[in-house]
Parts: sequence; C-alpha cells; structure tokens
Amino acid sequence: MNDFTRNDGRASDSSRTDAQAADERPVLIEAKDLCKYFPVGGGRVLKAVDRVSFVIRSGETLGLVGESGCGKSTTGRTLLGLYPRTSGEIRYGGTDIGALKGRELKEFRRQCQIIFQDPYSSLDPRMTIAEIVAEGIRVFEKLSKEEIRQRVNSLLARVGLTEDFANRFAHELSGGQRQRVGIARALAVSPRLIVCDEPISALDVSIQAQIINLLLELQREEGLSYLFISHDLSMVRHISDRVGIMYLGSLVELGSSDQVFRESLHPYTRALIAAIPDADPDAADTKGHSRLEGEVPSPVDSPSGCRFRTRCPYAQEACAADIPPMEEAAPGHFVACRRWRELQ
Ligand SMILES: Nc1ncnc2c1ncn2[C@@H]1O[C@H](COP(=O)(O)OP(=O)(O)OP(=O)(O)O)[C@@H](O)[C@H]1O
Ligand SMILES: [Mg+2]
Repeated sequence: MNDFTRNDGRASDSSRTDAQAADERPVLIEAKDLCKYFPVGGGRVLKAVDRVSFVIRSGETLGLVGESGCGKSTTGRTLLGLYPRTSGEIRYGGTDIGALKGRELKEFRRQCQIIFQDPYSSLDPRMTIAEIVAEGIRVFEKLSKEEIRQRVNSLLARVGLTEDFANRFAHELSGGQRQRVGIARALAVSPRLIVCDEPISALDVSIQAQIINLLLELQREEGLSYLFISHDLSMVRHISDRVGIMYLGSLVELGSSDQVFRESLHPYTRALIAAIPDADPDAADTKGHSRLEGEVPSPVDSPSGCRFRTRCPYAQEACAADIPPMEEAAPGHFVACRRWRELQ
C-alpha cells in the first residue's frame, strides 16, 4: 500500500466517527441529473457525463473514481461551470448556478477552485510564482501591493515553500513544488470547494504522500470540501468520506468509503477492487468476481440499457432494456444495477 495511506488521520477509528457524522454537515454543492454532451459531428453526441447526481457536504471529500475517459474531469469542470452543462442542475448553497449573476456569480467562482493533474502546463511559464499566486487575489480583492506580497508569502509558507520561490518561474521548480504552487493559487482566494483533478498522478510516489498530507491538513484547518478525482482506488478510499464510481459517463455506485469498498454492490466496483494489486484484506470479498476484461465501449455509441452490460459477467437480457436507476440499497449507499440483490 502506498505511503499516503499512513499518517493521514483517516484510517483511524476516530475518523470513522467523523465520516459517519458527515451526513449531518450541510450540503455545499449538488449535482442533479447533470449531463455534458459534446457534439462530435454528423449530429452525433459524445455523452461524457450522463445524468450524474451527487452532493458534496461542507468539509467532506467526495472521491470520484473510474477508468480513463469515463467522464471524471468533465464532471468536475461542468460542476464548476467551466464547461456549460447540457442539462441538469447544479445547486450551490441551494441556488442553481445558472441563476447566479454579477457579484453572486463572482463569489461562486471565488469559492470553487480547481487543481489540475499536470502542475507544469497549468502554471503560466511567463509569470513568476508570486504573480501566479496573486492572480486570483487581484481579481477578487482590493489589496495594496505590499498586502498582496505579504499574502503571497504567507500562502507559500502555508504550502511548504519559502519566500525565495516568489520570484522564480515554474520551470525552475520540481513537480511537487509546482503542485504546491497550484494549491497556493487555489487557496489564495479562500475557497470552500476545490476540485482536485488527479493532483498527484504526475508526481513521484515519494512526493505524492506529501501533497496528499498537505491537502488533508488544509482541509482540517479550513473546513474545505474536495471533489477528489483519481483512478487510484486505494488512495481515494483512504482520503474520501464518500466515493462515487463512474463508468462511461454515469455513476454506478455511491456511498461512504466503507460502503463502497467493503460492501460493494455493483459488479463494476467489485471488478475494480479485485484489480487492485495489493488488495486490502478488509475490502469486499472479491473472490469469484471476474476481473475486468475488454475495452470500455465508445461514449458516442454507448450500449443501450446498463452501460456496463457488455463487460458484465452477470448481464441478462433485461439489462439491455433501460438504464438502471440509482437505488438506495442501504442508507446513503446507492447502486445502479438491476441485479444487485441477486448478486449478494
Ligand atoms: N472538450 C471535449 N470535446 C470532446 N470530447 C471531450 C472533451 N473533453 C472530454 N471529452 C471526451 O469525454 C469523455 C470523458 O472525458 P474525461 O476527460 O472527462 O474523462 P476522465 O475520466 O477524466 O479520463 P482520464 O482518467 O483519462 O482523465 C472522453 O470520451 C473524452 O474523450
Ligand atoms: Mg481526467
């Protein structure tokens, strides 16, 4: 198991109580039947995100997992309004973001930030680190030059960088240092939600744990909410309060980290867990569950009915009829599979 599963404060019994208490926390943002389709010519559409619903509560981490191309990044970007949605609702603090204008819209943009996978291409090479971190502050606050300088230095310290970094350029930094700058830039505007889109995938394993621990520390101190996107199940399990499993544009399972990993219900979730090289002994019993085989079908001509049926060992004729709805199998534990009851 990777280093970041240690010392993160989540695997202990005390944090389980926190996770259980998570349901009491107010909902910060909600996606309801969110769709994002990209036109691909000839009147056809690529359904990158198709009727996805979830909430993220104040101070919690929702992990989003699934194979490459399943729509994780598109979900994150559409949630923040960086991509216009095709349909569905995004409610922030109870208000649909489509209805936000002027100052309210600006406030939404300030409160909801994103950290990208590749900290190099996401940092402007012509700007100094100080300019990068200060950019958001200048947009959202009226501060003097000296106040901005002080704020930037304290943000750099916050993410473990000395003041010396202020005048350097991104290309002079290591991957881990660049990602720290990406985090400082997001933090600069005092956000409430950060979409972390594979923030450690491009980093060396030894650095990954440091960045994860930094994100967890900031969350504890600031009460931040995270939508944490990754294809690394072990890591997501250990840092998330709740986890959503995505397949070909749709959520197929959603629940607390323990529900999804220990009591997984969807054949796709089970197959993903069975594929973890160093499977957790506490994980759901995946023996007898087939490993994932075959390719993910194209999101342009996705299969009728359950999207996973073409790779599912339990698929029956009925699975082709219509898309299975998300059913609440246990309190807070949702699954989109017609056969989940029989498969227990
Ligand atoms: N701007 C775009 N225009 C057209 N298609 C897009 C666009 N962005 C994403 N897609 C397509 O939407 C689908 C979902 O892509 P997305 O990047 O959200 O997946 P992902 O789960 O983040 O994958 P990865 O793990 O590789 O980052 C893919 O089929 C992708 O090719
Ligand atoms: Mg992505």
